[in-house]
Amino acid sequence: MNALTSLARLEVGYDVPALPGMDEANIQTPCLILDLDALERNIKKMGEYANAHGMRHRAHGKMHKSVDVLKLQMKFGAVGVCCQKVSEAEVFVRAGIHDVLVSNQVRDPVKIDRLARLPMLGARVIVCVDDLANVADLSAAAQKHSTTIECLVEIDCGAGRCGVRRSEEVLEIAKAIDAEAGLKFTGIQAYQGAMQHIESYEQRKAKLDVAIAQVADAVSALKAIGLEAELVSGGGTGSYYFESNSGVYNELQCGSYAFMDADYGRIRDRDGKRIDQGEWQNALFILTSVMSHAKPHLAVVDAGLKAQSVDSGLPFVYGRDGVKYIKCSDEHGVIEDPNGVLKINEKLRLVPGHCDPTCNVHDWYVGVRNGKVETLWPISARGKAY
Ligand SMILES: Cc1ncc(COP(=O)(O)O)c(C=O)c1O
Repeated sequence: MNALTSLARLEVGYDVPALPGMDEANIQTPCLILDLDALERNIKKMGEYANAHGMRHRAHGKMHKSVDVLKLQMKFGAVGVCCQKVSEAEVFVRAGIHDVLVSNQVRDPVKIDRLARLPMLGARVIVCVDDLANVADLSAAAQKHSTTIECLVEIDCGAGRCGVRRSEEVLEIAKAIDAEAGLKFTGIQAYQGAMQHIESYEQRKAKLDVAIAQVADAVSALKAIGLEAELVSGGGTGSYYFESNSGVYNELQCGSYAFMDADYGRIRDRDGKRIDQGEWQNALFILTSVMSHAKPHLAVVDAGLKAQSVDSGLPFVYGRDGVKYIKCSDEHGVIEDPNGVLKINEKLRLVPGHCDPTCNVHDWYVGVRNGKVETLWPISARGKAY
């Protein structure tokens, strides 16, 4: 198929940026592309790591929001998915994913009701709890729908957001869950989010050592009153090796490792190497095109604020020395090009500053391999924030 024939197959009004079989050069920009070789390598590597360390890996779906990416993760060993919102969980359950953790608090009565109905579609549904009042509400909804909601008591082990801090509080909530009809006490949620992006491996380890001691204390206090934590869940891309070797955690929740981004990529592994230069590979890119070079030293591309999130910094131009993405506005990205090497319509791969919120503003992943579009995946839970 030549380029024009394949371009003509793009349906006007249907708004897909590419079709399988098309040359990468003809993809419509700006859009998200996935380097399928890098993606598969990252996912396989995490699957093998978790397996070798006797850990369950419940991949975090809030990062990619894609049923297709999750299915690839499950093919390589992931046991299920973490979601942050009930609406995300609904997407994954409807797609046939049978083990779903909402790694967050659900307090709104309508959301609790939606959550309680999900097991009717055949899913094991788990949620985090950090308050006794929530226990009663979850129980009432589960009884109303004759379902079971599994509960993890969330420990705030340093992230400074949801979760209780003391083991006595964990015990009190765990006992209440255990006593309520329609609920099952399943274990502990303890994700140390604040340390994931600290550059130094040693400083991350010091933070995780504190978290692990806190979680170990709660787990043994639970055991002492006859409550076994079946799941002790947490761990992200910047910490999973600490949780895996803790002897306390048994489930990982890593998300960003699969795609990588500019902010995560700069943190260091134990040998002081950037994690995007060996441990993981950049698999996610914003494909963008040069649309103006009216000023000799500045190129303007079509990926601005509406194509990405810059909360964690600007993207970098992948694989191109001497050019730098320096600022953006709604529809424009400005690239410093001191030697004037970029050409109109030339395509660049940008590594986004922060993958999660960037994925949330696109409809499609265009999967590429060897210069060709191989697949087109919908970002199934895109915009599901409710
Ligand atoms: C509760 C929870 N678990 C796991 C993750 C995944 O972490 P990462 O993307 O760092 O691997 C996140 C991300 O923010 C999270 O909030």
